[in-house]
Amino acid sequence: MSDKADDKAVNIPAQSEGTVITKGDAAPGETLLKVTGLQKHFPIKKGLLQRQVGAVRAVDGLDFEVKSGETLGVVGESGCGKSTMGRLITRLLEPTAGTVEFEGTDITHLGVGGMRPLRRDMQMIFQDPYSSLNPRHTIGTIVSAPFRLQGVEPEGGVKKEVQRLLSVVGLSPEHYNRYPHEFSGGQRQRIGIARALALSPKLVVADEPVSALDVSIQAQVVNLLDDLQRELGLTYVIIAHDLSVVRHVSDRIAVMYLGKIVELADREQLYKSPMHPYTKALLSAVPIPDPARRGAKSERILLKGDVPSPISPPAGCRFHTRCWKATEICRTTEPPLAELRPGQQVACHHPENFADQAPQDVVLLSDAKEAAELVSEEALAASAETSAAVAAEVESGGPDTEASKDGAAKTAPAAAEDGAAKTAPEAAEGTAEEK
Ligand SMILES: Nc1ncnc2c1ncn2[C@@H]1O[C@H](COP(=O)(O)OP(=O)(O)O)[C@@H](O)[C@H]1O
Ligand code: SF4
Ligand SMILES: [Mg+2]
Repeated sequence: MSDKADDKAVNIPAQSEGTVITKGDAAPGETLLKVTGLQKHFPIKKGLLQRQVGAVRAVDGLDFEVKSGETLGVVGESGCGKSTMGRLITRLLEPTAGTVEFEGTDITHLGVGGMRPLRRDMQMIFQDPYSSLNPRHTIGTIVSAPFRLQGVEPEGGVKKEVQRLLSVVGLSPEHYNRYPHEFSGGQRQRIGIARALALSPKLVVADEPVSALDVSIQAQVVNLLDDLQRELGLTYVIIAHDLSVVRHVSDRIAVMYLGKIVELADREQLYKSPMHPYTKALLSAVPIPDPARRGAKSERILLKGDVPSPISPPAGCRFHTRCWKATEICRTTEPPLAELRPGQQVACHHPENFADQAPQDVVLLSDAKEAAELVSEEALAASAETSAAVAAEVESGGPDTEASKDGAAKTAPAAAEDGAAKTAPEAAEGTAEEK
């Protein structure tokens, strides 16, 4: 939540250009997106001559795939490079190194023209529903922008299609002529979702889509995304700063720390037996609804201090300055991301729930040992609230229920959210490539 502001300057060039193309579909389970060695280093420049004196290594070598129809959750503390990753894979940012393949095509360095047809297939939903909608435009104009910009004329006309999209996301078609300031945060996020869905994308990257919303509204919006995925066969990358949201909707989860993936595993496996100490720490802040484990205080780890600077990340394992298991090798040698169990990749010298743990007689790095303590009851309670609300919504809207069959009629009516008008910061529509 603390990195809310960093999304403000971003907008959706995705929708600002285009011609109509025909699509070839990746079958469910096939690789839709493949990322190899992906890096983004933002140069730091100083002085009159603007000489480069360093770089923010926001994303520092990512390898992963997203399969058609799945939801990949991406979690990590603020500043670890999640938003940068999201913008790289949707090509709103130009990578420093590595490759991005979409449906088998290398799109890493495609220019505006080359990306144009693909913009329909990849959409992004941003964290801040206040800055991502232009306050001077009506809802109709905002949601129809993708059609205009891509030169697409939907069957039955734009207005009819926009009104249909509004009802799909649980808003009233009558909202067509209203302005963003007339809507609550949750309703605005629904408008953003309607806009993202206008061109029937294949991949939706949602960057902390509910972090700015109240807990009860968070659950409704997560549930909406979940239903839309089922109905429309969408593929999601959902970014969050903790596990309370993604745990309920992800098929697989990637845990990021300082620009790297430290663990990537099937959701069940990650929850049942996390192998990276950082994952374990993140999980400790999300209470497990298993009464047998609830009292296990010793399992609850609270990481103290901030994530180190990505300008000069710690040598060896980047987590060693905060890891209670760190030994000498952790300080000197970077552990590679390796598949230690089927479907579970981990980058750690002394993984949890695994035979090859740190020998008991090894002296832990003392500063690291002090970096962890038991998590506070207050921190647990806050996270539990989000987690329980999302769980209740997602579970009650499961595939077999009446409700989930009709996304238009069921999802939390707009009326349920407070319609309080809030001031909208300058809009972020239009185009803005990396500065
Ligand atoms: N345009 C930019 N220029 C310089 N540094 C940036 C830029 N965008 C992000 N960063 C830095 O990159 C790091 C990762 O940022 P971000 O991807 O927003 O992380 P997250 O979304 O996980 O909070 C942070 O240290 C942030 O300050
Ligand atoms: S490699 Fe060492 S410092 Fe890094 S997470 Fe594993 S035990 Fe901790
Ligand atoms: Mg972010």
